Amino acid sequence: MRTEQPKVIHLKDYQVPAYLIDETHLTFELYEDRTLVHAQLVMRRNPEAGAGLPPLELHGQDLELVSLALNDRQLAAGDYQLGEESLTLQPDSERFTLDSSVVIHPETNTALEGLYKSGKMFCTQCEAEGFRKITWYLDRPDVMSTFTTTVSAEKQRYPILLSNGNPIASGSEDDGRHWVTWEDPFRKPAYLFALVAGDLWCVEDSFTTMSGREVALRIYVEPENLDKCQHAMDSLKRSMKWDEEAYGREYDLDIFMIVAVNDFNMGAMENKGLNIFNSSAVLAHAETATDAAHQRVEAIVAHEYFHNWSGNRVTCRDWFQLSLKEGFTVLRDAQFSADMNSATVKRIEDVAYLRTHQFAEDAGPMAHSVRPESYMEISNFYTLTVYEKGAEVVRMIQTLLGKEGFRKGSDLYFERHDGQAVTVDDFVKAMEDANDADLGQFKRWYSQAGTPRLAVSERYDEAARTYTLTFRQSCPPTPGQNSKEPFVIPVELGLLAADGRELPLRLHGEAAPVGTSRVLAVTEAEQSFTFVELDERPLPSLLRGFSAPVKLEFPYSRDQLMFLMQHDSDGFNRWEAGQQLSVQVLLELIGQQQRGEPLAMDERLTMALRSLLQDETLDPAMVAEMLSLPSELYLTEISEVADVDAIHAAREFARRELASRLFEPLYQRYMTHREVSRQTPYVASAEHFARRALQNIALAYLMLSERSDILALCLDQFDTADNMTERLSALASLINSPFEDKRALALQSFAEQFSDNPLVMDQWFSVQAASPLSGGLERVQTLMQHPAFTLKNPNKVRALIGAFAGQNLVNFHRADGAGYRFLADQVIALNAMNPQIASRLLGPLTRWRKYDSGRQALMKAELERILASGELSSDVYEVVSKSLA
Ligand code: TRP
Ligand code: ZN
Repeated sequence: MRTEQPKVIHLKDYQVPAYLIDETHLTFELYEDRTLVHAQLVMRRNPEAGAGLPPLELHGQDLELVSLALNDRQLAAGDYQLGEESLTLQPDSERFTLDSSVVIHPETNTALEGLYKSGKMFCTQCEAEGFRKITWYLDRPDVMSTFTTTVSAEKQRYPILLSNGNPIASGSEDDGRHWVTWEDPFRKPAYLFALVAGDLWCVEDSFTTMSGREVALRIYVEPENLDKCQHAMDSLKRSMKWDEEAYGREYDLDIFMIVAVNDFNMGAMENKGLNIFNSSAVLAHAETATDAAHQRVEAIVAHEYFHNWSGNRVTCRDWFQLSLKEGFTVLRDAQFSADMNSATVKRIEDVAYLRTHQFAEDAGPMAHSVRPESYMEISNFYTLTVYEKGAEVVRMIQTLLGKEGFRKGSDLYFERHDGQAVTVDDFVKAMEDANDADLGQFKRWYSQAGTPRLAVSERYDEAARTYTLTFRQSCPPTPGQNSKEPFVIPVELGLLAADGRELPLRLHGEAAPVGTSRVLAVTEAEQSFTFVELDERPLPSLLRGFSAPVKLEFPYSRDQLMFLMQHDSDGFNRWEAGQQLSVQVLLELIGQQQRGEPLAMDERLTMALRSLLQDETLDPAMVAEMLSLPSELYLTEISEVADVDAIHAAREFARRELASRLFEPLYQRYMTHREVSRQTPYVASAEHFARRALQNIALAYLMLSERSDILALCLDQFDTADNMTERLSALASLINSPFEDKRALALQSFAEQFSDNPLVMDQWFSVQAASPLSGGLERVQTLMQHPAFTLKNPNKVRALIGAFAGQNLVNFHRADGAGYRFLADQVIALNAMNPQIASRLLGPLTRWRKYDSGRQALMKAELERILASGELSSDVYEVVSKSLA
C-alpha cells in the first residue's frame, strides 16, 4: 500500500543489470507462524555494464532482515541501506558471495504473491515480481541463475516438499521435521522459481521423448481430487508429443510436475519443472466438470508446458517483452487445441473472444500496444492485448511467411537464443533472417495500440472483365498515441461466382492465376488490387480465418451474407457471414425498441438457421456456434453508445422468435442428441463436445417456449444426466425460466449434491450471477453470505462478482447505479487483501464512456469514490487513475 503516486517505469529507460547472479542457494524453514529464508547468492559484476563497482541494489518487499554477510563477513547496520523496497550495499570486488536471512509470513499473505498458504499447503507465485517478497534479490528476468533449494518442514503436515529441477538429497530430523534438496541445473530468472509443501498425493505417468529419454510425470493434488487428474495427464502427454512434432521441442529435465492449488490469482504458472495450477485448470471429471472445463484444462496444461521453451529456455529481457513469451505461447496452445479438436470451431471461439474483450480493451482507457511503453504496475499488463492480440500478431507472421517459413524462423529463434533473455525484436529478427524477409513495417503491430479499421470497396468493370478491391485502413487514437502509421494487414480472400464456385485469382500483371484463396498484404493507408479475367461480378469472401485482428467493413447485403453462409469454402467465414447477418438483424431490432416501435424480425435469419439445423451433414459444433447469437457484450462493444436495456430486449426477442419459429427442427435435434447422451457413457472428445453443444443450445431455445412438456425434458436431463455438461445446461435453462418453484428446488438440490466440491459450487454461483431475471443484484448480495463464498478465494470472486459485472449487463447496469456501487465496494474491500484481483474486477467500470450520460456519471462517481477511499495498491491506483484521466 502506498500514499504517494506509484512510479512510472519506461521501456526507454532499460539498462543492463550492474551485477549478475551465477548461483542461488536457498533454504526455507517453514513454520506455522513464520518462515525463515536463507539465501546464498554467488554474484559478479556484469562485464557488459561498464567499469568500476557501483553500489549493489537488491529488490525486497515485506522482508524482516535477520542477518547479512558479504564474503562470509557479517555486515553491521551501517554497512548497508534499507529502503522502502530496496537494500543497497557496496561490493569491494568483482566477484563476491552474499548471504542473507529473512523472516517472512506466508500464513498471513492474502495477496497470493510470493510464498503463501492455500488451505493447508505452502505454495509460491513469483511472476512477475513476487520473488522479492521471498528474499533480497535481483528480481528481474534478465538476471538468470542456477538454483538449489532446500525445504524443511514438519513431516506430518507437509510430507511432500517440492521445488524446481531434480531432488538430490533428503533427510529426517529427530524433532519431527524433514527436508529435501532440489537442484535446477537450467539457469532461470527468479520469476520461474517455485516451492510447494503439503499433504499431497499424486498421479504418476511417464513420457519417452523423441531422443528416447524417459521423463517422470506427476500431478500433485489433495487426496480427494486424485480421481480428477487423468484428463490433465492425458493432455500433458499429448502436449509433449505435439511440441516435438509441430515445433521440434523436446523436454529437458527428468521430471515434470504439476501441482493443483485452490487459491490462485490466474490460471496457471509455468515454473521450471514445477508448474503450479489453479485447481480449476487441472481437475476435470465427467461428473463435476463441463466440456468447456475439459477443453480449458487441455489448453492450459498445453500452454504452461509449451512455456518450457517459449518462456523458460528462451525468456524475456524485461517485462515490456511479456508478449514475446505470452503471445507466442497462446498461439502455440491455440494451434495445439485446433489440432486436437475442430480447428474451425476453435478459431471461431478465439475470434469471438478477441472481438468482444480485447477490442473493448483496445478502445478503452487502459489501451496499450502489444509491447507497452510504460507501466506503473506490471501485474496490470497481463492483458488480453499482450496475450490474445499478441498471439494474433505472431499468427500474422506465420500467414505472411507461410507455415514452413515460420517453422524455420522458430527453429532459428530457439537455437540462437537458448539460455538467453531476449526481446520481441530478437524474435522478429530470427523470423526475418530465416526467411530473408523484411518485417520492418510489420513491427508496428507491436508498438501501435488500437484496433485498425479496414474499409473495403469494390468495382467491377464488365468490359475489361476486371474486379478491383480498394482497402482503406485507419486506426483510432489511443492514450498517448494520436496518429498511427499504416500496418501490414494480411488479407486472405477468395472470390465467389453466382453459382457458389470459387474463382481462380489472377492479379493484374500476373501470368497465371494463383489458386482460389490467397493472402494479399495491405501495406498502404489506401491500396487497390485488381483481379483480371472475370466474366461476372464476384462476391468477395474477405479476411478468411480472420487473417488479421481488424474491424472489416464491407457493405454486404443480407442476401449476400446468406449466400456466403451457404457457399463460402472457408468455414470461419461461413460463421462470420451468419454473425454479420445476426448483427444486422439485431441492430434493426434495437432501433425499433429504442423508437418504441413494435419489434419485427427479418425472416431471413430464421430461414438461414433453419437450413443449418436441417442439414445433418454439418458438424454439430458448427451448427451450435451458428445458432448462438452475438453476445450482449459484443453488441455493446460495436455500439457507439450502448443501450443495455434495448440490447437485452432485442436479443431476447430474437431468441424467442427463433425458438418459436424453429421449434420443430430444434426439438428433433434435441431429442436425437439427448438420446445418444443417454445411451453412451461420457467421453471427452471433440465429437462428443460437438454433439452436446448442439443438444444444449437446442434445449436453451426450447425452454423459451415455456411449455410444460419441455420443462419435463429439462428436469429429466437435470436429474438423470451422468455428466456436468448436461446437468449444468439444464440448470442454467431452468433458472432463467419462469418456473419459480422448480428453479429453487433445482438450485437447492444441486448445492446439496456438490457442497463438498468448490469448483462445482463456483459454477453454481456463476449461473445465478449471470441470470438476467430482475433482482439480480440482491441475489448476488445474498449469495455472498453463503457459507461456500469467500472474498479470499479468487475463483469465488470471479464466479460471483466477476460473472455479475461482466455478464449480467441488465442487472449490473441498473439505472440507479446500485450495481456500480456494489462493485466499487468489493474493489475497495479487495484492494487491501488481494490487489491483483481487485484491479481485474475493475474492468467493467473502466468502460464507462460506452454508456449514456446518466450511467457515465454514476460509473465515474464510483471510480472517484475508489480513488478517495484511502491507501490504494499500485494495481488499483493505475487502473482507476487512467480510467478517469
Ligand atoms: N505466466 C502465466 C501464464 O502463462 C501467467 C501468470 C500466472 C501470472 N500467475 C500469475 C501473471 C500471477 C501475473 C500474476 O499464463
Ligand atoms: Zn503464459
